[in-house]
Amino acid sequence: MKLLRRRLVLGAVLGTVFLGLLVLLVGQLLESWTSSMNLRPPSPRTSLRKFEWLARTPHPLDMNYPYPYPFLINHPDRCKGPKGTPFLLMLVMTQPQEVGVRQIIRQTWGNETLVPNVVICRLFVIGLPQPLFFQEVQALLEEEDKEHGDLLQVGFLDTYHNLTLKVLMGLEWIAQYCPTARYVLKVDNDVFLNPSFLIHQVLHPEKPTPPNFITGYIYLDSEPQRSSDDKWYMPPELYPQEKYPVYCAGPGYVLSVSLAIRILDMAQKVRAIYLEDVYIGLCIRELGIKPTPSPPYAFSITRQEYEHCAFHHLVLVHHFKPQELLQLWPDFQKVNATCLRD
Ligand SMILES: *[C@@H]1O[C@H](CO)[C@@H](O)[C@H](O)[C@H]1NC(C)=O
Ligand SMILES: *[C@@H]1O[C@H](CO)[C@@H](O)[C@H](O)[C@H]1NC(C)=O
Ligand SMILES: *[C@@H]1O[C@H](CO)[C@@H](O)[C@H](O)[C@H]1NC(C)=O
Repeated sequence: MKLLRRRLVLGAVLGTVFLGLLVLLVGQLLESWTSSMNLRPPSPRTSLRKFEWLARTPHPLDMNYPYPYPFLINHPDRCKGPKGTPFLLMLVMTQPQEVGVRQIIRQTWGNETLVPNVVICRLFVIGLPQPLFFQEVQALLEEEDKEHGDLLQVGFLDTYHNLTLKVLMGLEWIAQYCPTARYVLKVDNDVFLNPSFLIHQVLHPEKPTPPNFITGYIYLDSEPQRSSDDKWYMPPELYPQEKYPVYCAGPGYVLSVSLAIRILDMAQKVRAIYLEDVYIGLCIRELGIKPTPSPPYAFSITRQEYEHCAFHHLVLVHHFKPQELLQLWPDFQKVNATCLRD
């Protein structure tokens, strides 16, 4: 009796297990068959789970915007100086630890009193120092700012891949504290700049400000880099289109403040990508605006050797080290009769 009962129980258990396996197998076969035939759309549950996963682990090149990043070092009144509202606001991108670079820029093209009768306002936009040296670098920054009063520190880690956020925070600062300035220049820290040519030959203080003006070196037809070891790699997940919009190259571009504020509005809706110059291009395309061509060769994105007269007839040359600027600046400041033609 006992034996028979055991056998029956065992048989029932084995039978259930077998049946269960069979059901699972057939179920899986059916599932793979239907999905390979594309008969069934992914269930909302799976796509929701995938979405949740993506939300928890964002792409390393993705960034969080809009987001209420704070201004940690700020000068709300910087734009309300005794000389009146600025004609040109320079937003200079430097990293926190680049104290010496900022000092050289102040002494050369960043000098606010370089161009007579034109009000220029300079701000260095910086993020947070690396955690490892945070205390030390932050203390240096506060000291530097006490002396010069020209730092604008925003509350996120200062990395190349967060540059778009720095530029957008610069635009937020303008919208909040300096909306009546006429032009804003976004400029990197590794350029030669000739503010006088920019102001008198490109912007023309005596003329009214065109509301939708942006100029620089214009890329008309460029494409995302899709190989992951490229410096400007753009993953298709973050930017699926095959072409970039028309845009002004990042080392230096200038725009009217009214356009800067419209770009900022558009940036609340257009997904941010880490290439800030391309991103500004995306926003102006959404606004239906095209960059205005600048005088030929005025913005050089390739290196050129310094030459007095040539450099007096252009706005910007990329790839100048601060030490080189310091060396050429005294000569650049000299009046040279051989190139006084205009
Ligand atoms: C800025 O330029 C003015 C006019 O050329 C000059 O007098 C002044 O010393 C310069 N300032 C700095 C910090 O180099
Ligand atoms: C950008 O800043 C955020 C906030 O500080 C930080 O978490 C993130 O790592 C930074 N992104 C990159 C690519 O460095
Ligand atoms: C004027 O500039 C030219 C090059 O553009 C240079 O050869 C010449 O030496 C300069 N003259 C003076 C007086 O600096």
